Amino acid sequence: MKGKLNSPPIIMEQNLLITLLASCSSVQYKSNGERIYFTATSSSGKPIISQGFTMMHGRIACVNCHGANGNGGNVHMMMTNFEAPDITWAELTGPHEHHAPYTEATIKDAIIKGMEPNGEELEIYMPRWQMADEDLDDLLSFLKTLK
Ligand code: HEC
Repeated sequence: MKGKLNSPPIIMEQNLLITLLASCSSVQYKSNGERIYFTATSSSGKPIISQGFTMMHGRIACVNCHGANGNGGNVHMMMTNFEAPDITWAELTGPHEHHAPYTEATIKDAIIKGMEPNGEELEIYMPRWQMADEDLDDLLSFLKTLK
């Protein structure tokens, strides 16, 4: 048991490594929105908090599940496998099987409240986020560039 709590996880998940690399101060982001997507930190220094599935996972950002291009895919995290959806702009604002196409307002609801356009809750794998309104706007501007 000695030292167990402090020892790093044996397997460094690749997606976590991406975040660590992306958090390096030497990396320059083209926009605050891009920085939030890749690091869950804001250039304003205001807090960005995620709650839910990832609470025990330390700092986690959109990129860890939805990928660098927003294409999503299978995620292996905390001994679980799940599918993260494609959140490229055309995909979000295009037709969906179970609900209306996303709009800017409903995308914000998905990020903050974990709510789909039809009012249903997203699975808990999608964290619920808290961030300043300006940061959310910057994040949306970045999501618009994903294709
Ligand atoms: C731990 C993994 C994880 C992280 C981190 C994460 N998401 Fe998600 N996200 C998901 C999963 C899984 C779903 C699908 C949930 C469902 O279908 O019920 C989802 C759903 C979404 C949706 C709704 C898509 C749809 O088709 O309904 C949006 C928008 C979204 N995420 C944006 C983001 C943004 C922006 C961030 C970063 C601030 C983020 N997500 C971080 C896992 C994650």
